[in-house]
Amino acid sequence: MNKVIANNDVNVFDVEKIRLDFPILSIKVHGKPLCYLDNAATTQKPKVVIDKLVEYYTSMNANIHRGVHYLSELSTKAFEDSRIKIKNFLNASSEREIIFTKGTTDSINLVASSFGRGKLKDGDEIIITGMEHHSNIVPWQLVAKEKKIKIRVVPITDTGEIVLEEFEKLINEKTKLVSVVYVSNSLGTVNPVEDIIKIAHKHNIPVLLDGAQAVQHLNVDVQKLDCDFLALSGHKIYGPTGIGILYGKEKLLNELPPYQGGGDMISKVTFEETTFNSLPYKFEAGTSNIADAIALGTAIDYFSAIGIDAIAKHEGELLDYATEKLSGLKEVRIIGNAKRKSSVLSFVIENIHPHDVGTFLDFEGVAIRTGHHCTQPVMDRYNIPATSRASFAMYNTKEEVDILVGGVKKIIEVFK
Ligand code: ALA
Repeated sequence: MNKVIANNDVNVFDVEKIRLDFPILSIKVHGKPLCYLDNAATTQKPKVVIDKLVEYYTSMNANIHRGVHYLSELSTKAFEDSRIKIKNFLNASSEREIIFTKGTTDSINLVASSFGRGKLKDGDEIIITGMEHHSNIVPWQLVAKEKKIKIRVVPITDTGEIVLEEFEKLINEKTKLVSVVYVSNSLGTVNPVEDIIKIAHKHNIPVLLDGAQAVQHLNVDVQKLDCDFLALSGHKIYGPTGIGILYGKEKLLNELPPYQGGGDMISKVTFEETTFNSLPYKFEAGTSNIADAIALGTAIDYFSAIGIDAIAKHEGELLDYATEKLSGLKEVRIIGNAKRKSSVLSFVIENIHPHDVGTFLDFEGVAIRTGHHCTQPVMDRYNIPATSRASFAMYNTKEEVDILVGGVKKIIEVFK
């Protein structure tokens, strides 16, 4: 089994050593070495995570919380140990605050459904921003079809930032929730969530953070932030797909009705009435994604052993380097120029559609994402149909940025 690297010293961060932990990074694409710069869509998996999945299915597989037999106890313990790892990673006060979901989208839908039914009434308002992923827009629109709630949107500036005064102006006595993205997946903006939370709490309004693009790049401490909910996806932090987390403050989660009904979330069922299980199980109906939840714990171990400070420093250098190189090309316009950004570089090239850019770069072995990135309102805001987006992870290198920039220069030449 692959050894987890213990590398907490930001000065000895060894990217070449880290790359060896990710088997897929050595493949060739169209005869060229893979240059994987689509990490905001999903990250690659270290061998320890892949091995954990195989280990689970070869030596542990059984349903959890349901059996007294050996395998069931083994898998239940591994599953609950993983919850504790995630609790520690986020610095939540209790594992009861850590709910396993399918991912960020599922986590936000959980809050929209439960908070919508339990706390919102006709006439209430919620606040989001102009840079939300569709997963933090559409669930609220679905709630708005059931109840007459209003969704108010904090506008974004030309640089891709929100202005706190504009946010505060939208708050009134009808505001019941603020739901904002921590790091924008299409602009890279790191939002001032600390200030947003302080302002919202001054008015006794809870705050949900979409942490999908944050937890793998920033030091996220839910108690320090004092956020009320935080959603994240396992596959964006080197874990498997189909597993994610909703963190919620225990008191608030206790006040909300369940999301889905079924096995494991109940205490007692009769045909007349059902009482519900305690936290976090009240929100985990049905057989959980056990193997992936356990492997997410392994991913968190791997990530933590390398250390967020070293990772953030490395990714920050890559972003600065790539920004400098691409800004030097007069045909390239960077979309999203916030003062505080993380790991995402969106750009458009004069007279070349992003899909052509993506296809061209693919033949150079470079994987980037092109399109609206599930943030169509952001595209509308900048009056563009799409962007090309490079997004960085701990295993990327400056040489890969050079390959990206070389590919961009080539396509500019070809399309001239
Ligand atoms: N939300 C993911 C992205 O930004 C899929 O690519």
